Amino acid sequence: MSNKILLVIYLGIVFTFILASLAVGSHQGVKGVSVYSPKTSGKAYSLSEIASHNDTNSCWTVIGVRVYDLTSWISIHPGGDVDILSLCGKNGTEEYKSQHFGQAGPMDYLNSFEIGTLSN
Ligand code: HEM
Repeated sequence: MSNKILLVIYLGIVFTFILASLAVGSHQGVKGVSVYSPKTSGKAYSLSEIASHNDTNSCWTVIGVRVYDLTSWISIHPGGDVDILSLCGKNGTEEYKSQHFGQAGPMDYLNSFEIGTLSN
């Protein structure tokens, strides 16, 4: 085989690897919010502490047994800011479930906002 053909094969392999690694690293969703990246601290928060994070400056909510910091999500939620603001500072399980129960997309985003669990 000539050197030129070997070079073309080599470049083809390198190019394929570059494209594949770009694809793997690009789990970016709405406006660059990265999904599939739970950043839970494992910390437990009481409902009274969560209640103090109840506006656009800091918006925490409880869904199930987990606590989420939705502050950065308020302005980019595809369903609008009002629906997220209505969850700030309280247990938002029922409202979340009534809209997004069983949907993988919203759950992926939710995971990326997790900060801990609800204490007893
Ligand atoms: C609490 C965390 C929430 C997250 C992470 C979230 C996430 C999302 C995502 C990813 C979408 C786009 C879905 C798609 O196009 O397939 C969406 C759409 C939507 N969400 Fe939420 N959501 C949340 C809470 C809520 C709540 C509490 C409500 C209402 C009670 C709501 C109402 C909607 C509506 C109406 C849409 C459809 C918007 C449209 O297609 O025009 N969301 N949400």
